[in-house]
Amino acid sequence: MLTRNSQILTEDYQNINHDGDDVIQGLTQTPKTLPPKYFYDDRGSELFEQICELPEYYPTRTEAWILSQYADEIAHLTGECELIELGSGSSTKTIFLLDAYQKLSRSFKYIPIDVSAGILKASVFKLQKKYPDSLIDGLVGTYEQALTQLATTVSSSRMIFFLGSSIGNFNPQEADRFLRQVAEALSPGDYFLLGLDLQKPQSILEAAYNDSQGVTAAFNLNMLSHLNWRFQGNFDLNLFTHQAIYNQADAQIEMYLHTHKSHWVNLEALNLKIFLETGESILTEISRKFDLAVIQKELEKHGLKTIKVWTDPQQWFGLILCQA
Ligand code: AVJ
Repeated sequence: MLTRNSQILTEDYQNINHDGDDVIQGLTQTPKTLPPKYFYDDRGSELFEQICELPEYYPTRTEAWILSQYADEIAHLTGECELIELGSGSSTKTIFLLDAYQKLSRSFKYIPIDVSAGILKASVFKLQKKYPDSLIDGLVGTYEQALTQLATTVSSSRMIFFLGSSIGNFNPQEADRFLRQVAEALSPGDYFLLGLDLQKPQSILEAAYNDSQGVTAAFNLNMLSHLNWRFQGNFDLNLFTHQAIYNQADAQIEMYLHTHKSHWVNLEALNLKIFLETGESILTEISRKFDLAVIQKELEKHGLKTIKVWTDPQQWFGLILCQA
């Protein structure tokens, strides 16, 4: 239950649920893939925070600008409600929303959810100091775990929010399943706030995922370090290079780890041995770029009706508020 005293679930809980079946599945299929959630060990979450500061990586600052402009309006549209954030990370952008909800009522309830316990604990601690009259309970877990749990709890009124365009990590089928779970975790009248990276020229997109300082490359490669410690693996990071390309046809950035030398990799804890060919790539992430009209139809299919849409002047990023 998401109650005051059940906040931080333990590292054990996280491990039980990251048992690596998805790693086995991804690495034994052709082409090989790995689930993007394995980016986010504590080091990976730190690297992601650095990505958010890069000059080329426009999504974070663009979404933050939209929130800075419209958080008060969002709060007025929804009124007081329990705030639940999926993939909260450092909760930096969330401050705009929390400030807006604090104006509605001195005390609010905020439940940040993230797979990375380190960054979650640090941000919950920081926020509890900043908003001493409010209830802030972190929850370590995957979206799946969180939504399943939320569907079994009731609240007077809630808003689930999912910022940063993380929904772009899901292929259409996974996104459909995810939205169904979101809808199941909401009661009629509840809200869902969704951040979306929008379609734009290839050169801007590719620059954002191939930054000149190599932070995105380090972030991508860090997934292998994470798998090494988590599953007693022996990925040799020196044998891989980062690649990010924009696939126009599917309107998605694809991040790969490309190997220039054929070799075997062993993941002892998973009892898994895989062979990589020279020139083979592992797909670590897709990051879809959206069309607002298309995604609104998807939301509508799940009973999530658009209340209002906000964008920046260049229409690079969008924020949709919808209601169940
Ligand atoms: C956190 C999934 C939204 O897709 O832009 C950033 C992750 N990957 N740079 C994104 C990411 C490479 C990010 N999301």
